[in-house]
Amino acid sequence: MVLPHSMPLVPLPLSASVGDGRMPIGEATRITGDAAAAAQLIDAVAQRTGIRLPLPSDADRAADIHLRIDPGAAALEGYRLTIGDTAEIVGGDEAGLFYGVQSLLQLLRQDDEGWGVARAEIFDAPRFARRGVMLDVARHFFGVDDVKKFIDHISALKFNHLHLHLSDDQGWRIQIDSWPKLTELAASTAAGGAPGGFYTKDDYREIVAYAASRHMIVIPEIDLPGHTHAIGVAYPELVEAPVMNDGLISESKRLGQELPVAGEPYLGWGVGHSSVRIHDERTYDFVRDVVRELVEMTPGPYIHIGGDESLGTPQADFDHFVERATAIVFEEGRTPVAWHEVGAAADIAEGTIGQYWGKATPDGTHAAEAAHFVERGGALIMSTADKTYLDMKYAPDFPLGLTWAAIIDVRSAYEWEPTEVLDVPDEAILGVEAPLWSETTATIGEVEQLVFPRAAAQAEVAWSSRDAPERTWESFRERLGSMAPLWKAGGVDFHPADDVPWSER
Ligand code: ACM
Repeated sequence: MVLPHSMPLVPLPLSASVGDGRMPIGEATRITGDAAAAAQLIDAVAQRTGIRLPLPSDADRAADIHLRIDPGAAALEGYRLTIGDTAEIVGGDEAGLFYGVQSLLQLLRQDDEGWGVARAEIFDAPRFARRGVMLDVARHFFGVDDVKKFIDHISALKFNHLHLHLSDDQGWRIQIDSWPKLTELAASTAAGGAPGGFYTKDDYREIVAYAASRHMIVIPEIDLPGHTHAIGVAYPELVEAPVMNDGLISESKRLGQELPVAGEPYLGWGVGHSSVRIHDERTYDFVRDVVRELVEMTPGPYIHIGGDESLGTPQADFDHFVERATAIVFEEGRTPVAWHEVGAAADIAEGTIGQYWGKATPDGTHAAEAAHFVERGGALIMSTADKTYLDMKYAPDFPLGLTWAAIIDVRSAYEWEPTEVLDVPDEAILGVEAPLWSETTATIGEVEQLVFPRAAAQAEVAWSSRDAPERTWESFRERLGSMAPLWKAGGVDFHPADDVPWSER
């Protein structure tokens, strides 16, 4: 494969070649074929260039851009894109067609003659079926329009899962009819005293539908049994009194944050002090009700039950809780996902998916906990904290973000291999998810500064073949630089990291 750096594509396609010249794109460019893909392409071209291409019509036999689906022509989520005097995108399925359109949009460039796309032949399909980003809407809340914009720009990088962290100590963010005080009493606060908020069921369904239109599955997370202080603001009878730990006390002091007080909103971002009551059946009524209502409004196959940092919960209690909670999710018809600590429990429900958030050089306990999901017939998502955590600072003096896992510059985010972290079979690795925890990000613009460009590094780790000659930092940084005009046109407040040659157009 010859992929000149002048080919501005992230993530790197499976195979691609560029010919001479370009196909101009202008007001007379006509599209034909799949109506949904055509409408998305027309909107995206208009946002980028100001040119609104005409809607497809049956009379358009001599169209310039042909969009269609042919399961025989490409793999699931794959596509073939051919650009000569005319262009054709053939998706192996709807998602593949959508990804072919995203690649065409990356090729769309302005030069002295106007807008055009390079002549090219691309054949593409993903390495991992699972490519995700997590947005923490609990520490700070982001409204429906912000989340839709976020979906636009991560789906353009061919991510196909959006994990929403819907509850934490600082606030509860989703309407649950059977436990109405969650949003009446525990949703109006956020980290640092920022205003909170929550999604009504209609809001949530709107996000899910919008994500689906961009071929993204939403994974809702209710973090349990820890990270549950907000639940106790609404229903004190469901939680234990806060249990302080040394890290919480010293960090609170350093940051000038109050320690958690039972029943009062918690605005700091210390962790590990909260727990639901493990030996009270009302807790399991609560878990089941919440899971059931989430299932009713979540078409995707997963419900995430958290499981991280339950530092004040005795291990035997923790194990008992997560064994029951994972079983409840299966009983309600979905597959549970949980942070790797849940793998400490011997009898987690078989088939539970683990999310590893330890480091690229694992601690033995974390590695064993993660491996236990595989022993129980499950599999793993890699959220290697010192590589994929989007809330880590790029540099020590970066104004946003935290540092506990690592300082992660763009190159470090790019250079890691998901199958080489844990001692499990390669097939047990479903893919990669990059989490954005929002303690320090109060606006979606601040979120974007941490997410872009590093999410693009994880997109390539998850999508592109690890053996491709161009899967190198030198190639990636050039191709990444070519994303700048797209992000600028989309109003994305990306961080122009100085190790990347950002292009103007
Ligand atoms: C985590 O970062 N507490 C999963």
